[in-house]
Amino acid sequence: MEGDILRHRSRALSKYWKSAATALLSLALAAPASASTAAAEAPVKEKPTTQTPAKELQDQRAAAGPAKERGLKYLVSDYQTRTPSKYTARSWAPFAKALRTAAGVADDTSASKSDVADAKTALMTAAADLKAADEGTFQTITNDTFWNDTDGNPIYSQGGGVFKFGDTYYWYGVHYTGAEYYRANPTRKYDGDVSFVSIPVYSSKDLVNWKFENRVATRSTDAGSGATMGGAGWVGRLGVTYNENTGKYVLATQMWHPGRGGHGVLLLQGDSPTDTFDFGYLQTQITNSPTTGTGDQTVFTDDDGKDYLIFSNREGRSRGFVAKFRESDSLRIEPGVEIRRGDGREGNAMFKLDGKYYHAASDLHGWNTSVNYVNESTGSDIQGSYSSEYVLAGTERDYSHVTQTGFFVTVNGTKQNTVIYAGDRWADFAWNGIGYNQWVPITKTGARPQFHSMSQWQFNVTTGEWRAGPANNYILNPDIQADRIIVSNVRGWQRTGGWSTNVEGGANGSRFALQVGDSGGVEQRIESVPAGAYTLSLHARGSSGQVVVTGADGSERTLDVPSSSGWAKRELTGIELPSGTVTVTVRASGSAGVTVDQLSLVKTSGDTPPPAGQRYEAETAPAECQGTIDSNHAGFSGSGFCNGNNAAEGVAQFTVTPEAAGTATLGVRFANGASARPANLVVNGSTVGNVSFEATGAWTTWSTKTVTVPLNAGTNTIRLEPTTAAGLPNVDYLDVAAATA
Ligand code: GCU
Ligand code: CA
Repeated sequence: MEGDILRHRSRALSKYWKSAATALLSLALAAPASASTAAAEAPVKEKPTTQTPAKELQDQRAAAGPAKERGLKYLVSDYQTRTPSKYTARSWAPFAKALRTAAGVADDTSASKSDVADAKTALMTAAADLKAADEGTFQTITNDTFWNDTDGNPIYSQGGGVFKFGDTYYWYGVHYTGAEYYRANPTRKYDGDVSFVSIPVYSSKDLVNWKFENRVATRSTDAGSGATMGGAGWVGRLGVTYNENTGKYVLATQMWHPGRGGHGVLLLQGDSPTDTFDFGYLQTQITNSPTTGTGDQTVFTDDDGKDYLIFSNREGRSRGFVAKFRESDSLRIEPGVEIRRGDGREGNAMFKLDGKYYHAASDLHGWNTSVNYVNESTGSDIQGSYSSEYVLAGTERDYSHVTQTGFFVTVNGTKQNTVIYAGDRWADFAWNGIGYNQWVPITKTGARPQFHSMSQWQFNVTTGEWRAGPANNYILNPDIQADRIIVSNVRGWQRTGGWSTNVEGGANGSRFALQVGDSGGVEQRIESVPAGAYTLSLHARGSSGQVVVTGADGSERTLDVPSSSGWAKRELTGIELPSGTVTVTVRASGSAGVTVDQLSLVKTSGDTPPPAGQRYEAETAPAECQGTIDSNHAGFSGSGFCNGNNAAEGVAQFTVTPEAAGTATLGVRFANGASARPANLVVNGSTVGNVSFEATGAWTTWSTKTVTVPLNAGTNTIRLEPTTAAGLPNVDYLDVAAATA
C-alpha cells in the first residue's frame, strides 16, 4: 500500500488550481494547524451474547472520542500540520499543491460530491508519495505484553487490520468485553465474553506508537432496518477501504444479528478515516460462497488501490475466496473467486511481497494458536491460480508466536520490503499468554517468505529494516502456552530422553508449565543469536534438575535447579555466547519430574547498538533512590533497579552531565504492576512535566517513557517525584540523548 495507491484515478482539479492557489498563498503550510475442533468451537463465536457490558464500558462509551470534523476539512487540517523540512523538496511540491487545492475545495460550498472525492484522492495520493528527508528511526515493538496507546490507555483492537491512507497508518479492530476482563486478571479463561463494545481507530506514522482517534462504531451504530450493532450476537473480522469515486471510507465487518437475518457482511462508511461511521449496507450472501456470511475475513488493498475481501466460507471453511469490492462505491462485495479448497482454514488474510500474493490462514482452532498455512499466487493476478498450501517457515517453531493469523501490513521501505505479521492472541478465550497483539516481521529468504518469531524487535518504517530488540527473549514458546492441550511433545522443545509433557498450573497464574522426568528432558535449538553475554532465567518447582546452555563453539554453562515445593526463580548470568546456534536443554536429575516455566535467554551486553547518548543506572551513584536497590525482577539493566518506597517521598534522582545546554530527550526505563504510577519530572528543582508511567502488567515487564526536558551544560539533577501515595514504578535507568540547542 505504498505511493502508487490511488494515483490511477486521481484527476487534475483544474477548476480549483488558480483560485485555491491565490487564496491560499498566505497559508503557512509549515505551521501546525494549532499546533479445531472447529465444529465444537466455531459456534461459540457466533453465539448471541446477552451480557450487559460492565459499567466502566458504558462510561467509556459515554465519553467516546470527540466527534471528528467530517470529511475533506478534517483531512486538510490534519495535513496542514506536516512540515516541509521533514520531506524531500521533490515530494513536498506536489503535496503542497494538492493540499492547497483540497483546501480550496473544502471551503467551496458549491463543490460537488465528486469534486470533494477527487480532492481527497489527490491529497491522499500526494501524501502517500511524501518521501522522508531522513533515514527514519528504529522503534521498539514488545510482544507478550498488553499494549497501550500514546495516552497510556489500553489498546483493545482484535480481528481487524491496519490500512494506510495518505501518509498515515490507521488501525481498526474490535473492542470486546472479554479483553478487558482478561487484561485485569489474566489467570483464567473468559469463555464467551465477546460482547461488542466498539470499533476504535488508532493512527500512527511508525506502526509502533498508536494514537487513539475515535470509535468509528459503537453499540448504538445503526445496523440497518432500525437495528443497532449492540443487538448483534457477533461483530468481528473487519477492514477499511477508501473508495475513489465516493471519497468515502468503507468498513466491512462480519455481523451475526438475530434481527437482521443472521450472518452477513456489514458495510459502514465514513467521510474520513477517523470519522464516526454510518450504516451503508448489509450483504448476507456473497455470490459463489456456499453459505451466507463468511467464515473468517480480512480486507486487502493492492498496490493499485483496488480493494478485496479475503474470506473463507462459513461452515467448514474449506474454501478460500478473493472478492472485489464494487468499484462504484465499495458498498457491495462482488462474486468471490475461489483460490483454494481443502482442509478448513480460518483467520484468512492476504499479503503481497515482491510481486507475489500469499493467502495465509490458520487451523480451525477456535481462536487459538496455529502454524500459518500459505497458498502462493503462481502469477501476478490476485484472483488467479495459487500453489497448494505449505507451512509458512518459522511458524511451526512456536505456533506463530502463540497466535492465530490476524492480518498483515506491507511496508515497502527505502532499503527493504518487510511484511508485518499481526497475530491475534485471543487470550480471552484461550488463556494462552499475555497480550492480544503479537507482531513480528516476515521477509523473503530464498524463494519463500520466512516468519521471525521474537518477543521484542525494532522496526524502521522509513527504511523497512528491522532487528531483534535489546530485551528479546531468544527462547521460543518460553511460557509453554503454544499447545493449548496436554501433549507429550511440547511445541518447540524436542525430547532427548526420559519423558516430557506440559502440565496445567504454570508460574504466576499462567496456564501451563513444562515437566520432564526419568533423567531425561527436552532441548530447544535456537538458530542464531548474536555474540554477547546472556542471562538465563526460569521458574522451577518439583525435583531437582539442570538447564544447560550450549553455545555454537560447544561451550556449556549449567544452571542447577534445586528441588522446591513451590515456584522459585532461578537465574544464571554472564553466559558468554559466540554468534550462531544455541541449544537450551532442560533435564531432570532423577526419575521424579522437574517443572519449569517462563524461561528466558536475554542478551545483557555485546554488540547491540547502544542508544544514542548516555545511560545513567538508577543503582549507580550519584543516582539516589529513596527505597531499596533490588534485583528480583528480571530484565533490568546493570545490577539492579530502584524500588522506591511506596509513598510520595519515594523519589528517584539522577545527576546527569550533558556536554551542551539545550532540549534533551530522556528515556526512563521502568516496570509497574497492575496500575499506573504517575510522577512529576523535576529538573534542577523545577517541575517541568508529569510522566504517566502506566501499568506494564508485571514487574518483569520493562518499558521506556520518552520525555524532553531543558538541560544546562554540566551538572543537572533529574528527579522523579511520585504524585500518589503508591510511589514510583520500579526505575531501571535514565537515558539522556544529546541536547539540541
Ligand atoms: C512489589 C514488587 C516491587 C515493587 C512493589 C511496589 O513488591 O516486587 O518490586 O516495587 O511491589 O508496589 O512498589
Ligand atoms: Ca516500590
